[in-house]
Amino acid sequence: MSIKIHTPEEIEHMRVAGRFAGELLDYLAPFVVPGVTTNELDRLCAEYTTSRGSVSAPLNYAPPGHTPYPKSMCTSVNHQVCHGIPNDKPLKKGDIVNIDVTPITNGWHGDSSRMYIVGGEEAAPPFVSRLVRVTYESMWLGIQQVKPGAHLGDIGHAIQQYVEGHGYSVVREFCGHGTGQEFHTEPQVLHYGKPGTLEELQPGMIFTIEPMVNAGRREIKQGPDGWAIVTKDRSLSAQFEHTLVVTETGYEVLTVSPGMPALPDFVSSTKT
Ligand code: MF3
Ligand code: CO
Ligand code: CO
Repeated sequence: MSIKIHTPEEIEHMRVAGRFAGELLDYLAPFVVPGVTTNELDRLCAEYTTSRGSVSAPLNYAPPGHTPYPKSMCTSVNHQVCHGIPNDKPLKKGDIVNIDVTPITNGWHGDSSRMYIVGGEEAAPPFVSRLVRVTYESMWLGIQQVKPGAHLGDIGHAIQQYVEGHGYSVVREFCGHGTGQEFHTEPQVLHYGKPGTLEELQPGMIFTIEPMVNAGRREIKQGPDGWAIVTKDRSLSAQFEHTLVVTETGYEVLTVSPGMPALPDFVSSTKT
C-alpha cells in the first residue's frame, strides 16, 4: 500500500468537505453549555449534517474488532481520551469536552475536532486551560512541519517535544491518518517520533494531525462500552484535530471555518 496523491479536483472536493466539518463544529459551539447532554449535541450534529446532504461517517462505523459505533460523532469528556460515545449525562460547568466530527460530503471525509470548555474559558481553572492550550499549540507545531521533503517523523517529534516539555504526555495507541474517500487510510501519523524518520511527504498527500495529550501519564485503557478510551490514571486528556493537504510549498488546512479557535501567535496562516 502506498499513500494516495490527490489531484487538484480531488483536493477541491476535500476543501468543501473539510469546510463543512469546521462549520459543523462552529454550529455546535453555542450549544455546549452546562446542563446539555452529549446525546443532545449528537442529535444536533446528526440533524445539521443530514439536513445539508452530508452523512456522518462515525454512525455505524465498524472497524475490525469493534461493534458498530452507535452515534454521529464522538464526545470525550475530561479523562476520556477519544471515542467517547454521547450519552444522557448533562455536562457540568468546568468540564472539558472534545467533539470529533467526520461528515462525508459528496463522498469525501472532513475529519476535525476541538476542545470546548463548558461554561466558557473562565469556567475552568488555569491548569485546565493550560492543557487545552498546549494541546492546540502542539497540533499547530505539527502542522507547521508539513512540506514536501519533510518526514512524518518530523511531525511527531515536534508535537512530542512540546507536549513533554510542558510536563504532559502523548498518547501512543492512536494516531492521525490518511483520509479522503476512505475514513481511515495510510499513512499513520504518529504524534511522537524522531526527525527525518518515516515517510517523506509529497504534494497531494492528505492526512489528519490529532494529538491526544494527557495531563498525567500516557497510559490509557478501554472503557466498558468497547469504544471510549480513558486515561489509566484518570488525569484529564485533551485533543484537537485538523485535516490537511501537503502543497508544493507547505500545507493547507482543509477543515477551516469562520468560528475555529484563533491561531496561536506563532502561526500566521492556515496555508503556506
Ligand atoms: N474521528 C475519529 C478520528 O479522528 C474517528 C472516530 S471513529 C468512531 O479518526 F467510530 F469512533 F467514530
Ligand atoms: Co481522525
Ligand atoms: Co476525528
